[in-house]
Parts: sequence; structure tokens; C-alpha cells
Amino acid sequence: MQELFQPLAAPAFIPLRNRVVMSAMSRSFADENRCATEAMVQYYERRALGGAGLILTEGTIIDRSGDGWANAPYIANDQQAKAWRPVVDAVHAAGGAIACQLWHMGRISHADFTGDAPVSSTSVAAAGHNRQNDKPYGEPRALAADEMPGVYALFADAAKRALDAGFDAVELHTGHGYLPDQFLDGHVNDRTDSYGGSVENRCRFTLELVEAVTKAVPARQVMARISPSRFMGGIYEWPDLDDMLGHLIPALGQLGLGALDVSCAASDYFETSGRMVRKIRPLFNGVIVSGASLTQEQAEGELASGMVDAITWGRAFIANPDLADRMRSGAELVPFNDSMRSTLV
Ligand SMILES: Cc1cc2nc3c(=O)[nH]c(=O)nc-3n(C[C@H](O)[C@H](O)[C@H](O)COP(=O)(O)O)c2cc1C
Repeated sequence: MQELFQPLAAPAFIPLRNRVVMSAMSRSFADENRCATEAMVQYYERRALGGAGLILTEGTIIDRSGDGWANAPYIANDQQAKAWRPVVDAVHAAGGAIACQLWHMGRISHADFTGDAPVSSTSVAAAGHNRQNDKPYGEPRALAADEMPGVYALFADAAKRALDAGFDAVELHTGHGYLPDQFLDGHVNDRTDSYGGSVENRCRFTLELVEAVTKAVPARQVMARISPSRFMGGIYEWPDLDDMLGHLIPALGQLGLGALDVSCAASDYFETSGRMVRKIRPLFNGVIVSGASLTQEQAEGELASGMVDAITWGRAFIANPDLADRMRSGAELVPFNDSMRSTLV
């Protein structure tokens, strides 16, 4: 049986018309106030008209202290939240659901964006360059323990603004090396206080964050994206991986988290996230979404395995706004190429 086009009706998550999910993808087309534009309305509307079950917005900055990306949209104030309303309305009118990805980049930023030293779990700068301004990543300031509630409040307030603007859900970006992942990842987290060291301590920031957000908005409308395994010059995984998952995932379940989005960014799915979902499924009762350039046949196989409930596609959605309809009808897909990044079609 084709499962991709079965509705998803999980009691602890928002209902979806099918299992085809568009991944969060930064496109850098917000206006000078970092508001969503009419072109963005049309871009997201096309994906919903083309049959997507759930659309994750591009990473949306919750506060200037978390910015590190040119022309990324924000949801840090009411004006920016209101600008998302036409996007949400257009997606709903086309029968889709849409979640806002809430983003704080932590040390993967630069004072050019934040205005001040970026914050992180650590005071050690990330290796490499911020491609947005072609400067080395900023030297971060390690957050003090008593500053954490203020950071959680930035996420919780952004989540409230997003739901008030009509979004069906929010996705906390707790993966890909951004702020929460800078605590989860023992390669980065060098703290000696209660937010670093042991598995429990490394998970504390993310769990307290999810607790704060699920107190502010219904837990069934909250997703979290994690990336415990991906390629970064070879396989890159959280240290103490099994213990980390064994502590983090059931605790997220106890908080009532609606869905986990297990991401390997652009890595080979079966070598990374495909292995992770097989570890995570027995630990989590909520919805699991995952993927990365799967063929339709592979996606059906993953759904049939019971390890995931819905499949994410990123670049295929840039190349094929009507990806879901094409898959349903067996039409050929347009291959993605890098030149497609520069226009919002
Ligand atoms: C142009 C582009 C922008 C992206 N921006 C984000 C982002 O803002 N947030 C995020 O979590 N992932 C982001 N990603 C990663 C995608 O969500 C996805 O995980 C990745 O592209 C792998 O899926 P795919 O192989 O189906 O494209 C981005 C990927 C691309 C290609």
C-alpha cells in the first residue's frame, strides 16, 4: 500500500493530509525589516497547492542575538509575526499545514549580525567561515547558567507569536550545530557547570528549552529537529550517542513533544538518520519525521518499516514545487541544481 499519501492522524501531533513534508530551507529573501514578503507567500503557497502535507518554513530568527544569516526572516516582534500571516493563510487555503522553524544560531554567527559577541555553550569559536559575510565565525561568549531562562523565553515568545499568526506548529531548531546543539554536542560543549560534562548535563539546555516552550504553547504543536548523526568530513556523531538518545528522547516524550525531525542535513540518509530513527523509534511515542533526498520507493520503505511517520524532502521541493502531486501521479521529477538557489520560484 502507498503510505506516503495516507493522512497522518496522530493524537499527540497536528493532523496532516499526507506524509510528504517540506524541510526547512533558508532562502534569504526577507525584506529589510526581516519580514516575509509577497514572493515568499507565493513560494510557500505553490508547495501547498502542489500537495505538500506539511511545510517547514526556512529557519526564522527569534532574536537578533541568534542571527547569522543574510536576509533570513525573523519572528522577533509582532510586525514580523504579522508578515507571516499571508503565508500561513495561503498554505491553509491550499489544504496544507505549516510550521515555523525557530532558529538561534549561537556561535555559528558573527557580531556583524548580532551586534555583540554571539552566545554559545562555549567561548571557543567554531572552525571555519560564516559564508554569509565571509568572515571567520565569531568568538562567542559562553552563556552563564542564570541567562538560560532568558534564552528559553526568546523561543517561547517566538512560539506564541507564531501560533498567534496562525502557524499549525513550531519547530525548534535543536540540530545542525546551532545553539541548542552546541550544548548537546560533546565535541563543542566544554562546560564544567550543570550544562556540560555528563549526558544529563549536556541534554539539560534542550530539555529545559522544550519544557519552557511547551508551557507557553500546546506541546502537540511543538516539533524539534535534532541531528545526532551527520557527515562533516566523515561521520560526525554526538559523543556517548546511545546514552544521549536514551536520556534525551524519552524525556522529550514525557514533555509531550509532538514530533521529532531527525536530520542528517545533506548526508546519506541510510548511513546517518536512517540508523538514528531505528534507535529513536523504541524510545519515542510521538511522531517521527526524517529524510534527505530519498527516492519515493525508499520513502515508502521507511514508512512501511514503521520507523518514521512522514518523510522530509528539501532540495527536491525547490526543484519541484508540486513534488507531492508529481509523486502521487508518478510524474518525473525535475533534478535540483545549484542555480535554483538564487531565485524564489
Ligand atoms: C538551500 C538550503 C537551505 C537550508 N536551510 C535550512 C534551514 O534553514 N534549517 C534547517 O533545519 N535545514 C536547512 N537545510 C537543510 C534541509 O532542511 C535538509 O535537511 C537538507 O537539504 C537535506 O535534505 P535533501 O537532501 O532532501 O535536500 C537547508 C538546505 C538547503 C538546500
